[in-house]
Amino acid sequence: MKAAVFYYSQSGQALKAAESICGSMSAVFKEIVPQQHYPFPWSRKEFFQVFPESRLGIPPSGIEPLDFSDIADADIVIVSGQSWFLSPSLPLQSFFGDEGVKEYLKGRSIVFVNSCRNMWLMTSRKVKEYVKLAGATLVGHIVLQDRASNLVSAVTIIRWLMKGKKEATSLLPAAGVSGEDLKGASRFGKVMENKWKEGDFSGLQTALLAEGAIRYKPSVLTIEKTGHRIFGFWARFIRKKGGFADGKRQGRLTLFYWYLLFVLFALSPLVQLFFWITYPLRRVKHNREIDCNV
Ligand SMILES: Cc1cc2nc3c(=O)[nH]c(=O)nc-3n(C[C@H](O)[C@H](O)[C@H](O)COP(=O)(O)O)c2cc1C
Repeated sequence: MKAAVFYYSQSGQALKAAESICGSMSAVFKEIVPQQHYPFPWSRKEFFQVFPESRLGIPPSGIEPLDFSDIADADIVIVSGQSWFLSPSLPLQSFFGDEGVKEYLKGRSIVFVNSCRNMWLMTSRKVKEYVKLAGATLVGHIVLQDRASNLVSAVTIIRWLMKGKKEATSLLPAAGVSGEDLKGASRFGKVMENKWKEGDFSGLQTALLAEGAIRYKPSVLTIEKTGHRIFGFWARFIRKKGGFADGKRQGRLTLFYWYLLFVLFALSPLVQLFFWITYPLRRVKHNREIDCNV
C-alpha cells in the first residue's frame, strides 16, 4: 500500500503521529507550507491574532505549490494536522482550499489524523465538509490527544505554545500527546494496510475505532460545542474592526483573551460538573456514534 501524507506541524507532533502510523508502509511525505508564516512559540498577541480567521474559515494566505507527480498512484491519502480555536488549523484550511489539492483529492480515500489538546469535534465536522467539497471520501478519522484533565492540559499547553516548554515539571505533566500514544499510533497503520489488502476501505473507521482511534470524552465535547457557537460571535465581533493583522482590532482581541481565560479556568469545570449531574438525560451513546463516524 502506498500512502500520500500531507502534514503541517509546528512542534513536530503531527509529523511524528503520521510517521508512526505509516511505520513500514510505503509513504511519501509532503509538507504543507502556508504562505503566511505562523510562529512557534507564539507571543500572546500572535496567538490571538489567528483566532477570528481560524474560527470563521478565512485563512489569510494560500500554501506553497505542492508536487503531486510522485503520488499519483497513492492508494490512500493521510492528512495529519491539528485544531486551532476549535477549527482546523489555518494551514489545514489553506490546504483544503487550494485548487490543485482539491483536484488531487478528487475521488480519493482520505484519513484525517488530528493531534490536538482535547477538542477535536468541530474540526472533524469542518474537515468532513472539506473532503466532501473536494469530491473525496473520508474513510478514517484518528484523534491523538493530551491524556491530562481539561484544566491541567490547559495550563501545560499554554506553557508549551507560549514558552516552548513541553517537558514535565515537579507539578505538571509534559504537554501534548504522550510519546507512548504517538508510538502506539503505529497500530492504526496496520489496520489501514489490512483493509487495503481486503480491497476495500469502507469498514476502515469501524476497525480503527475498535483499536481506540478516538478516546471519546463527552463532557469536554459539550464544552467544545457551546464554545464553538460563542467563538463564532466573538470572531465576527472582532472582524468588524478589521481583517487579519489589522491593528484596529487589538482591543477586541484583548477582551477575547480575558474571556477565554475566564472560560478555561472558571466556567469549564462548572460546565463539566453540570454535564455529569445531568448525565442520565444525555444521549451520549447516540452522539458518540455520530461524532466518531466518518
Ligand atoms: C493557535 C492555536 C490554537 C489551538 N486551539 C486548539 C483547540 O481549539 N483544540 C485543541 O484540542 N488544541 C488546540 N491547539 C493545540 C494544537 O491542536 C496542537 O496540539 C499543538 O499546537 C501542537 O501542534 P503541532 O503539531 O503544530 O506542533 C491550539 C494550538 C494553537 C497554536
